[in-house]
Amino acid sequence: MARRNGVKVPAMEGLNDSLPHPADVLAWYLDAGVDEAIGEEPLNRYALAEAALAARQAAAQQVLDDTRAAPPTPHPASAPSQYRAPPTPVRPTDPGVGDAAIKSAVDLALGAKTLDELRAALETFDGCPLKKTAMNLVFGDGAPDARVVFVGEAPGADEDRQGVPFVGASGQLLDKMLASIGLDRSKVFISNTVFWRPPGNRTPNQGEIAVWLPFVERIVEIIDPVLLVTVGGPATHSLLTQPGSVSRLRGRWFTYETPRMSHPITATAIYHPAYLLRTPAQKRQAWLDMLGIKAKLAELGGR
Ligand code: URA
Repeated sequence: MARRNGVKVPAMEGLNDSLPHPADVLAWYLDAGVDEAIGEEPLNRYALAEAALAARQAAAQQVLDDTRAAPPTPHPASAPSQYRAPPTPVRPTDPGVGDAAIKSAVDLALGAKTLDELRAALETFDGCPLKKTAMNLVFGDGAPDARVVFVGEAPGADEDRQGVPFVGASGQLLDKMLASIGLDRSKVFISNTVFWRPPGNRTPNQGEIAVWLPFVERIVEIIDPVLLVTVGGPATHSLLTQPGSVSRLRGRWFTYETPRMSHPITATAIYHPAYLLRTPAQKRQAWLDMLGIKAKLAELGGR
């Protein structure tokens, strides 16, 4: 095996001497600070640009052809009955997550009776491409009999490395928020809307959130807490199904129930700690929300 830059590299047959060795290219990227892949698949951007140009040209030609061929569009009021408005463009569905995957997620999640069984089911589930690019499953952390469950957005790089939710900068702030009302991870359960880190820390898309939702719901059903707290927008929108920004929804009380729960539970939304780190002026509101949660937990009683 040859050595390049002090590193052992395999000899590569058929390599064109006029091109740099792939190991040198990788070393160049590392020196430039590129230390992780942020896409699910490698992209040939030159080919993409050519394809996009060809698609734009074809679309422009189509518009020209249609304009020449079509009779003048009648005014809708005088249009004959077979007049149809042009179809609304449909956005492609989220790549990689289909109905079959969601159905299989529902079946797997429902089969789990305990958190350990649910974690084991998640490990086997291959219905979402996020699993291919992440290092570790980030299932949840805390007490299996917690009175309150917090659901955040998605694991970041630190969480991916450790397989534990909210351990990076956001997690440290969340721990402080919990401590401010006498809580810690031995008294709550913390999880996310998706269980594998999205590449480059992007926000999980609708398909990804939908495919993991049966597992998130099952966590709440198994723990059966008295209070559910959604942390940030994606968790708030997917679990509480409330439209609007967290700034409009925080500080309010909702109910949460799945068809398999015997009773609805109380739910509320709080700002995501990552948002609070970027917008410290909102911390005052966040701390008021935590005091609200403390008072609500006292009011709700239970175990
Ligand atoms: N942000 C989240 O929403 N969840 C984590 O686990 C970490 C950061």
